[in-house]
Amino acid sequence: MSQSTSCKTTSCKKAYITTPIYYVNDIPHIGHAYTTVIADTLAIYSRMIGHDTFFLTGTDEHGQKIEEAAKARNRSTQEYADEISGKFRSTWDRFDITYDKFIRTTDAEHKLGAQAAFKNMFDKGDIYKDVYKGHYCISCETFFPQIQLVDDEFCPECGKPTSIVEEESYFFRLSDYQDKLLAWYDENPECILPKSKRNEVIRFVESGLEDLSVTRTSFDWGVRIPEEINDPKHVMYVWLDALMNYLTALGYGTDEAKMDQWPARVHLIGKDILRFHAIYWPAFLMSLDMPLPKHIAAHGWWTRNGEKMSKSKGNVVNPIEIADAYGLENFRYFMLREVPFGGDGDFSQRALMDRINSDLGNDLGNLLNRLIGMSGKYFDGDVQSDLVSKYYQVELNEMKASITKLEPLLYDMQLHRYLDELWRPLSVANKAIDTYQPWTLMKEGREEEAMALNGLIANILANVAIMLHPVMPKTTVNIAKSLGFTIDGDSYQKIIQDGALLDRFTIEKIPPLFPRIEEMIIAETPKEEPKKKDEKKEVKKDDKAEGVALITIDQFFLTSLKIGTVIKAEEVPKSKKLLLLQVDLGDDDIRQVVSGIKEWYSAEELVGTQVCLVANLKPAKLMGLKSEGMVLAAKDGDGLVLMRPEKPKQSGTEVS
Ligand code: MSP
Repeated sequence: MSQSTSCKTTSCKKAYITTPIYYVNDIPHIGHAYTTVIADTLAIYSRMIGHDTFFLTGTDEHGQKIEEAAKARNRSTQEYADEISGKFRSTWDRFDITYDKFIRTTDAEHKLGAQAAFKNMFDKGDIYKDVYKGHYCISCETFFPQIQLVDDEFCPECGKPTSIVEEESYFFRLSDYQDKLLAWYDENPECILPKSKRNEVIRFVESGLEDLSVTRTSFDWGVRIPEEINDPKHVMYVWLDALMNYLTALGYGTDEAKMDQWPARVHLIGKDILRFHAIYWPAFLMSLDMPLPKHIAAHGWWTRNGEKMSKSKGNVVNPIEIADAYGLENFRYFMLREVPFGGDGDFSQRALMDRINSDLGNDLGNLLNRLIGMSGKYFDGDVQSDLVSKYYQVELNEMKASITKLEPLLYDMQLHRYLDELWRPLSVANKAIDTYQPWTLMKEGREEEAMALNGLIANILANVAIMLHPVMPKTTVNIAKSLGFTIDGDSYQKIIQDGALLDRFTIEKIPPLFPRIEEMIIAETPKEEPKKKDEKKEVKKDDKAEGVALITIDQFFLTSLKIGTVIKAEEVPKSKKLLLLQVDLGDDDIRQVVSGIKEWYSAEELVGTQVCLVANLKPAKLMGLKSEGMVLAAKDGDGLVLMRPEKPKQSGTEVS
């Protein structure tokens, strides 16, 4: 949670920073963590430099998709939304995310605020009633023109089938805003970052905008349009409802106490939701006569082995698992350093390990260790900066040159370049030790120079620690502690802004910050780790013991076994042997399984019980029905029994 700061002066800058609000039909994955960590980094930085910062995140809980996900689990929609929203909040708490507010679109204030906005746009004449007919994708909550469909049927975004929906709808006069939007992009070259994305948006808007359907009558789980309009069957289109969160979180339409934070400094989003943020959102704001955000910054996608992550492929990266295994702040550093903002990035444990061992361990951690060692050995831990400029002005200048480049890179979202530039002073420091060799200086009786060299290293580490603080908050606080200072607005002002050197201090020994990681910590499937040439996939003949093929542990881990809960079971018509099961594997993953167990189990007795499922079998068709897994059972002369956990376990628990 936030260490909320307020401005110390009346003229200070505001920094309202937002993440998208996350759908509650999915649990947090690396993509969500990425956006949130970038936003958190900006928020911590803005607070450190004294900007009046407000950092918003939250969950997007309305719409047909969520209603259906809850129904599939026999849960009330609100209860289901509460659970998943809670998972997002607890993930961000585990990630030490310093959000100032966690908004939920089911919050009463949000609904009132969204209704107030709708009413304002309606009263202005920007919303009118008509009939809509079009191809609708439930999954993306979006209508698509025929021309954009794949094979005339499938959604161009997610590939799922669309359906034709014809309904009475209220429309927003988006077409009226085409020229105003183009003027905004033109006058504000940095309104959409990276700039390449701005060009895409401009081309799209230039090709013509149609009015936007902003209400639905086909489902209930949403914000009703304002009572005054007197048309109770209409609920707001989820994207209108969701986008309004950026205003309602500040109290728009209710208690407007925080409205002075508006406009947003930056809305952080993924590239897939750029159209909503860069076209609809500014048009809504123009209609509401509100100032427009300064930046809409769209990052790329994380993939796994070059493939999109999805639950069905089982290749989703769980951020908590990675943070637990490799260290939260190491993971934060990795995500920001590894991928240029706006580009896609492939996640691999190898790449993460390399960053930890090389950038963090060798370049940063070792430098601090060397300083602790040298100052301990030669000067009882005493470190002085008075003579640094006398002997090492060139190195100090090199450091300053890098440090002054940083802030613009951060606000331009060039986070990978920010970190790259921040590593230059570390290499200046490491090189200085190798070049001037403190051990030789001491041997030659040039103690003053050796002390000054230690002072140089300490000051470089102090500068780096302050500027790295937003990315690695706790690690840098430890580094600063060892160097006898505290990271806060004052030290930022003194050391970074005024260029002051550290006061004399006695270095504090701290344990190595980045112990070397030799082995991948989380077992991966061989597909992700290319096999060594001599390792054959097939089971060799000599690997047989008493007629049973021996397999390696890697081969065993090719099979994903999971505990599942049977939520529905029915007989397969015309089949003596088959039952059709719906098995819940948690996290929105429900599998249809056709199983030959009817002779031993009735459909009714299975519902609510748990089974062990082979979760990564290629889907197959049995009697025309898709089967997406296999339940494990043991059969002898006495019949068949299902393999089940001894005590109930959470759906989706891995069996190993
Ligand atoms: N609810 C909407 C946002 C409404 S904001 C007014 C939504 N939610 S989402 O949960 O589906 O996605 C949230 C964010 O996660 C998006 O910015 C999306 O780009 C991001 N990511 C989802 N998967 C991702 C990756 N694999 N990699 C990086 N980010 C991705 O859209």
